[in-house]
Amino acid sequence: AADCFEHRALTGRHVLITAGPTQENIDPVRYITNHSSGKMGFALAEAAVEAGAKVTLITGPVHLPTPDRVNRIDVISARDMLAACEAAMPCDLLIAAAAVADYRPEVVAQHKMKKDPTSGEGLLLQLVRNPDILATLAGRPDRPFSVGFAAETENLLEYASRKLKDKNLDLIVANDVANPTIGFNSEENAITIIDRDLGQTSFAQTSKGKIARQLIIFIADRLNQA
Ligand code: CTP
Ligand code: CA
Repeated sequence: AADCFEHRALTGRHVLITAGPTQENIDPVRYITNHSSGKMGFALAEAAVEAGAKVTLITGPVHLPTPDRVNRIDVISARDMLAACEAAMPCDLLIAAAAVADYRPEVVAQHKMKKDPTSGEGLLLQLVRNPDILATLAGRPDRPFSVGFAAETENLLEYASRKLKDKNLDLIVANDVANPTIGFNSEENAITIIDRDLGQTSFAQTSKGKIARQLIIFIADRLNQA
């Protein structure tokens, strides 16, 4: 399995990867987002190319260079990301590393919102649910081998297993974002893979690049034995 990169174990495979945060507009100058850096998704794209795959990387706003030979598509909102993924289908393997905003403002103000000059009241922002990109793609008749990420601050394996089932995934990657050295904006990661058929496998804390290569080797083995 360690020879995956020499053997180019993903040759001929189309791999779709989502990465980064999404931004959900409130008005022309404001938005809701999160602290995702995109590093894990970009590292996975690079590793998948090294393993011989054709890679489409659909990313929210991040400050990262595009890895060599990766087809990068930039999007802003969750709905844009879903539309870009649907346009990029079919694929053999989907890895959903994006931190998609769960909600967006129900209405986007046309003009920059002004404070009410006559009162010191707060502001209530009505939010609505965004589509679930991973569950949508994993629910299609042409569903790819589907890999999700579960970033949790508590009950990590329980919540991750629930997502594996609820979204109809083949595999989920659980990581503990309560630990600041392996969380959203960090250089390193430590993960536990929960595989629908194979159960749990853990990888010790190391750089996101090394974790990405280990994960791509694991997934390539699973794809090639299926
Ligand atoms: N995901 C997605 N589209 C969404 C929300 C999540 O594709 N609208 C994907 C993420 O990319 C990740 C997986 O689903 O691979 C799990 O995301 P997570 O935020 O941990 O789970 P949620 O289902 O959003 O549940 P919650 O945030 O309530 O824990
Ligand atoms: Ca979420």
